[in-house]
Amino acid sequence: MVIVYRSNTGFTREYAEMLGRAEKIKVYSVTEAERSLESGTEIFYMGPLMAGHIEGVDQAVKRYQVRGVCGVGLSPSGRQVLETISRANYVPNAPIFYLQGGWAPKKVSWLKRRMVGMATKSLRESLQDKGSRRTPEEQAQLDLLVKGGSRVAFERLEAIRDWMKDC
Ligand SMILES: Cc1cc2nc3c(=O)[nH]c(=O)nc-3n(C[C@H](O)[C@H](O)[C@H](O)COP(=O)(O)O)c2cc1C
Repeated sequence: MVIVYRSNTGFTREYAEMLGRAEKIKVYSVTEAERSLESGTEIFYMGPLMAGHIEGVDQAVKRYQVRGVCGVGLSPSGRQVLETISRANYVPNAPIFYLQGGWAPKKVSWLKRRMVGMATKSLRESLQDKGSRRTPEEQAQLDLLVKGGSRVAFERLEAIRDWMKDC
């Protein structure tokens, strides 16, 4: 199995490269994979979330044998986000994982920045309303939404690495 990823602002690429190094498996961007991999190759696909959809997953499922999938987004990890992306992304017979990546408002277009701003408005406001009652985790999430930043961390790969060991 190899890793194939797509990344717009770099967070998914960071995770893909970290995972590839840790598990000693090859990592290809979608463009590199198109040139180098035969269709039907076994892959682990990683892509950024856009409005709940893992970008590029449909093309990956059509072209390769997808053994597992990971969406990377700005929301904190949790059961709810995993349920949402599992419903919104069709991946036959393969597990779906989620990793919190980051938010790079300066690297996306004005329109996309605005879309994310609107989608996260109520969460941002409820965190702001909490004032000094915000937990450190909530403060970090508010800072991420307002200013942008990275939450990429090697430890977050644990569930995927455990699963890969059983493959
Ligand atoms: C238009 C747009 C829609 C997005 N929708 C979601 C979303 O539904 N859920 C989420 O968690 N993150 C969402 N994000 C945030 C990205 O998925 C996040 O910044 C991710 O880390 C980007 O990965 P990349 O750097 O590999 O492109 C969205 C970002 C953009 C620009």
